[in-house]
Amino acid sequence: MSATARKTAPLPDDIRARKGGTPIVSLTAYTTPMAELMDAHCDFVLVGDSVGMVLHGLPSTLGVTIEMMILHGQAVKRGLQRAMMVVDMPFGSYEESPQQAFRNAARIMAETGAGAVKLEGGQGMAETIAFLVARGIPVMAHIGLTPQSINTLGGYKVQGRGSAGARLLADAQAVAAAGAFAVVLEKVPQTLAGRITAEVPIPTIGIGASAGCDGQVLVVDDMLGLFTRFKPKFVKRYATLGEQAEAAVAAYAEEVRTRAFPADEHVFADAAPEAKS
Ligand code: KIV
Repeated sequence: MSATARKTAPLPDDIRARKGGTPIVSLTAYTTPMAELMDAHCDFVLVGDSVGMVLHGLPSTLGVTIEMMILHGQAVKRGLQRAMMVVDMPFGSYEESPQQAFRNAARIMAETGAGAVKLEGGQGMAETIAFLVARGIPVMAHIGLTPQSINTLGGYKVQGRGSAGARLLADAQAVAAAGAFAVVLEKVPQTLAGRITAEVPIPTIGIGASAGCDGQVLVVDDMLGLFTRFKPKFVKRYATLGEQAEAAVAAYAEEVRTRAFPADEHVFADAAPEAKS
């Protein structure tokens, strides 16, 4: 069913059932107004830990806390009626043990109303994914470039080239076997993304992984041209809102300095206008 025709949010199983069908649409959101804008158009909205870089000016996602994810998750949820919300588990909130992951995932689900959580990792996270799913927490996995591991991956490089491709395929198979309902593939070469999509039974959601995936996700501030500190190759800018916003601020500053703003239509008369009978 198209996102616009839907009256209620899909469940993780509805997303899983979209494997091989009409591509699944997703964007990140961090605030209520942005969530409202995308609700009718997206199948699921991701409250990504990219919020740390995009809205809080952090240098990476590593400094994002569970409290930040809950606050932004609550804000996004208020703006959604038709799209499912997935909330990222931040760095340090799930890696220690399946029990730690459950405690924090349960808190995120209970306090935000999320339909699922997302966590980074493949074979090494399979036990944790199975633990969460067995306890009622739907999990979206995230493999390929996993930004919470940039310090061990050596930066934001394309993942899975050459012999590393087999490991990535094994990661995708492991998270699917553990019960993840979908898997994000980030910065994965086109042919490998196509092979993973063909071989794993759950939807692949690509970000820098080609149109061969079962769906796509982008960081909303990237595709709107609001986040301009850098632009990854896989981002297409559908608008240049950052430039427009700066031009608007410059025009306002100029009009304040020249007293062109506020004009007559923006001020109040001494006496209230007579009410018309
Ligand atoms: O945090 C995020 O925005 C993400 C997407 C890049 C998939 O995880």
